[in-house]
Amino acid sequence: MRLKDRVAIVTGAASGIGAAIGRQFAAEGARLLLVDIADNGAEQLDEQIRLSGGESIFEHTDVSDPAAIAHMVQACIRHYGRVDILVNNAGIVRQAPLHETAEDDWDRVLAVNLKSVFLGSRAVLPHMLAQGSGKIINVTSIAGLVGFENTGPYCASKGGQIALTREMALEYAKQGINVNCIAPGVIRTAMTAGMLASPEGTLAFEQGTPYRRLGEPEDIAHAAVYLASSESDFVNGEVLVVDGGWVAR
Ligand SMILES: NC(=O)c1ccc[n+]([C@@H]2O[C@H](COP(=O)([O-])OP(=O)(O)OC[C@H]3O[C@@H](n4cnc5c(N)ncnc54)[C@H](O)[C@@H]3O)[C@@H](O)[C@H]2O)c1
Repeated sequence: MRLKDRVAIVTGAASGIGAAIGRQFAAEGARLLLVDIADNGAEQLDEQIRLSGGESIFEHTDVSDPAAIAHMVQACIRHYGRVDILVNNAGIVRQAPLHETAEDDWDRVLAVNLKSVFLGSRAVLPHMLAQGSGKIINVTSIAGLVGFENTGPYCASKGGQIALTREMALEYAKQGINVNCIAPGVIRTAMTAGMLASPEGTLAFEQGTPYRRLGEPEDIAHAAVYLASSESDFVNGEVLVVDGGWVAR
């Protein structure tokens, strides 16, 4: 087991990529704190993990709320006594041409996707520093590397996550803490369901992917297991692109 007894917080764990990360982390022996605002999905996963012999608790947390984040980390320390891995995965998208984007949508996307990385990391770092080890994994997007139309706040938030990942990687490397991000391509989840609703939409994204298929949440979870495990100890500040070749074109 590659994550035996490691304590991991996974945000946005109710569905899609976060749920797949939760399942694979549990299968690799991690002890989990699942986090989301969607209680039903996260509670179901929490129960599945425990029924299959894993360890898991769920904490309802809005990742853009500093008080909720502080509470989340306190719950982790109270229950497990430590925190080894933080996966900042929760995210949202709002689609509109930039000139029609409401300020509220800009603020919400930046708060959920980018400020959350600051808040979550700030809250776990004192514990990781005291332990002398830790792994922070930020789920960014290829939209932080290349443009996607009609998603201005999303692209900005994802580019910001990459910049913050590199900053934190430098700042905490000497204390044994790795900070990396994963940049998924187009993955079949609730977030992309609208874009993929029609056969033409699906075909367009498949054709944009050199590997000629959409990604599945498990493709991203495999990368997260690697970055959470000791196999990646010498990997720091990396943007691990998992996109079937989209940005290689
Ligand atoms: N699906 C893709 O194609 C794709 C591509 C690149 C990057 N990503 C990124 O992957 C991550 C996961 O997305 P997904 O595709 O699994 O989407 P998803 O919609 O299935 O999952 C996102 C989860 O985040 C939760 N969430 C939203 N706001 C929250 C908040 N304020 N606090 C706590 N939880 C909150 C949602 O309830 C949901 O469970 C996101 O950061 C997304 O930007 C997805």
